[in-house]
Amino acid sequence: MLLKNGMVVLQDGVKKADLLIENGRICKIAPSIAGDGIDLNGRTVLPGLIDMHVHLREPGYEKKENIESGCRAAVKGGFTQICCMPNTKPVTDNKVVVSYIKNRAREVGLCKVHPVGAITEGQEGKNLAAIGAMKAAGAVALSEDGKTVVNTKLMANAMQYASDFGLVCLCHCEDHSLVDGGVVNEGYHSTLTGLKGSLRAAEDIIIAREICLAESLDVPVHICHVSTYSGVQLIRDAKKRGVKVTAETCPHYFTLTDEAIAGFDPDTKVNPPLREEKDRLAIIEGLSDGTIDCIVTDHAPHHYDDKHVEYDMAAFGISGIETSFALSYTQLVKGGVLTIEQLAERMSAAPARILSLEGGVLQEGVVADLTVVDLNEEWTVDPALFESKGKNTPFKGRKVCGRVKMTVSDGEIKYQE
Ligand code: DOR
Ligand code: ZN
Ligand code: ZN
Repeated sequence: MLLKNGMVVLQDGVKKADLLIENGRICKIAPSIAGDGIDLNGRTVLPGLIDMHVHLREPGYEKKENIESGCRAAVKGGFTQICCMPNTKPVTDNKVVVSYIKNRAREVGLCKVHPVGAITEGQEGKNLAAIGAMKAAGAVALSEDGKTVVNTKLMANAMQYASDFGLVCLCHCEDHSLVDGGVVNEGYHSTLTGLKGSLRAAEDIIIAREICLAESLDVPVHICHVSTYSGVQLIRDAKKRGVKVTAETCPHYFTLTDEAIAGFDPDTKVNPPLREEKDRLAIIEGLSDGTIDCIVTDHAPHHYDDKHVEYDMAAFGISGIETSFALSYTQLVKGGVLTIEQLAERMSAAPARILSLEGGVLQEGVVADLTVVDLNEEWTVDPALFESKGKNTPFKGRKVCGRVKMTVSDGEIKYQE
């Protein structure tokens, strides 16, 4: 495959170039390569995007999403690799479910799917799951996502074992006793709507705990979906001390605030909740200075029936994998916060590095995973056009800039608009 006339995002800048792909690898990047090929017409070529936090729902909740629909959504969103969270039914807490997901994803054949194993059996917070067996079957990380491992000793053991097996724990940080049924951020808008609030402290306390554990044990830890200004500060301070902490955030945390809940739209209900403007600005600052390493979607597709109920009763989550690139590009690059090279770093190189995955950069010799985007195209988010079964997005009707045109994985076109 020969791709011609691309603006190729390399680690040290954007260069006008052709790309030659052979045997699933990029074998040449040069100003001009002879031969017939696909004319990219000056569109931008990014390293294949990697989303290390996705909910594919299969097995068990196929009404919300399945591996096939989730992968279709992923490649449409520009992703060549995704990591799927273990809150399935049965829970992904053993090698059988890990193998099932990998095999099914291979059959679907769209993007690479890396399962994340649960930390405890059944995500019940009692006994550690079979970490070594899951690693051997292909799990790339451990997480109790959707919950926090309440017992601190158990979490310490988990981090130690994970590290012994070369895995990192991806921590959903939520002090359940403090959240106490809260569904939105505690503040002006929770008061105005009468919806029950949850303090930033509920997130920050567990971020601080996980940092303390990682520091004491001298093992790596990764903080999921950071939403608070104070959480950003905790992570920044820990990094300064040399703690092996990495962190992610999602487009909704740097694009929206809890003002969005005013209309009681259940699609604005997400965990952790949308916060306030000072949080949003701190998240952006954290992305800018590298305190927050990467952008993930926390793609959380839900069925119509799970969302079209009173706010209090609705499921938490946003179907985000088809809007992530455009929202990130619009907010951060057009907004003057990151360069396109830095955005590629946050959406590809950083997750690859954190999880030791192949890919993440464009250079000769690497696997041919890449995403072609039109940075000038404006479009309006319409969930009816999503490949994901989950149409739950608070961004419906929003105008964004930057459109995925083609996704190539292992040298094969997996999506083309
Ligand atoms: O909003 C969320 N949805 N947050 C989570 O932590 C879990 C996720 C889900 O599984 O729906
Ligand atoms: Zn979570
Ligand atoms: Zn999640």
